[in-house]
Amino acid sequence: MTEPSSNPANGDSGQGFTKRAEWSSRMAFILAATGSAVGLGNIWKFPYVTGENGGGAFVLVYLVCIAAVGLPIMMAEVLIGRRGGLSPVASMRHLAQRDGHKPAWQLVAGIGMLAAFLILSFYSMIGGWAVSYVGAAITGDFTGQSAEAIGEIFTGLLGNPWALLLWHTVFMALVMLVVGRGLRQGLEKAVTILMPALFVLLLMVVGYAMTTGHFGAGFSFLFSPDFSRLTTEGVLVALGHAFFTLSLGMAVMMAYGSYLSKNTSIAGTSITVSIMDTVVALLAGLAIFPIVFANELEPGAGPGLIFQTLPLAFGQMPLGSLFGALFFILLTFAAWTSAISLLEPVVEWLEEKKSLNRVSGTWVAGLSCWFLGIASILSLNVWSDVTPLGMFERFEGKTIFDLLDFLTASVLLPLGGLLVALFVGWKMSQKALREELAMADGTFNLWYRTLRYFTPVAVLVVFIYNLI
Ligand code: PHE
Repeated sequence: MTEPSSNPANGDSGQGFTKRAEWSSRMAFILAATGSAVGLGNIWKFPYVTGENGGGAFVLVYLVCIAAVGLPIMMAEVLIGRRGGLSPVASMRHLAQRDGHKPAWQLVAGIGMLAAFLILSFYSMIGGWAVSYVGAAITGDFTGQSAEAIGEIFTGLLGNPWALLLWHTVFMALVMLVVGRGLRQGLEKAVTILMPALFVLLLMVVGYAMTTGHFGAGFSFLFSPDFSRLTTEGVLVALGHAFFTLSLGMAVMMAYGSYLSKNTSIAGTSITVSIMDTVVALLAGLAIFPIVFANELEPGAGPGLIFQTLPLAFGQMPLGSLFGALFFILLTFAAWTSAISLLEPVVEWLEEKKSLNRVSGTWVAGLSCWFLGIASILSLNVWSDVTPLGMFERFEGKTIFDLLDFLTASVLLPLGGLLVALFVGWKMSQKALREELAMADGTFNLWYRTLRYFTPVAVLVVFIYNLI
């Protein structure tokens, strides 16, 4: 008897610890959802893929993808969460059964939760890199160092399982600390401090980038549209990234939506979150590229861009220790608020399903995730030759970490998003959707048609493309 049979979000929230928490304000939800969306994807990946795919032209396509695919799915996920008022799995089951569909639809949220859990295991490891770089920047490890020396710091970290384990543990502890304290005391408090701090820090680094004398070069790298450099693949990358950056397909927005009050506009908040996510990505580009160009670094350096080339630049600039530390604090904050959102759906589910309280749920989910993270850590060093699916050509040379990344980003995530679009677009009653969204007919129809027809096709194209 652990699950309420009626919908607690409708007000009959029960007694004691089963009382359903709610965000204290619309702003709290927006900050938390933005905190989830803004992460490593914005600060590292977006600028880099933009540079590779023709700059401004790519940005334009990306914006269309955010608006035409990302936004409709985000609204659908928040809607499922709020309408169901339970953990993602229970909400999906509840809503499916209510409209006479198979309870198996709950698997959609299950896939999302699994994806979130798997992603967190390696996201935490990378978050740990960011934490360790804060310390390195403060203590002046990068000051005046050569490119080789800086490269060695990075490869030295990746080659040292104990150091990685230490930082992974620190990062996971930070995440568990927040999630264990619950919605208002934990999540809300953290995001109301971290998100504004993140904006301030980002603006400071952009401000610094403006003084490098290469701001114009960075700006045009990001914004001058050169359509001749835009490829089909670029369009697909834009779509896939829109998905990842908005934290979709992982039950995260469902979990956050389940704490949303009935009188908050789902469309309004979703639009705000999408815009903030995009603005942060663009600002990150404006912060990073002028520094890259001023120091004649390679803009397409991939994972090394943040952890190898930027420390080199910070090590050579006046006040570099300060700005370097600020930058990695920023990266830590961004990764932290995203990681919190990855743990939350699992804890919410454990709390509800197994009647564990929040603290025990956090321990169980957090420790299992921490443990799984060890596999990714070892993939970078001791197990770097272990390639479990190496017998298939497609997966040759792929470590456990590579496989986890592929399974989540290229398989589970688009699959989850596709099924959400199909469920909300084709299975839920239109009346329920209209009630929940409370939008004018014209905008409702636009959203509904996009979600029914355009979104599934677009996601399917990316999905298939990623698999072949
Ligand atoms: N949106 C995050 C980013 O851009 C990644 C993420 C995905 C976080 C899914 C939470 C859930 O880095």
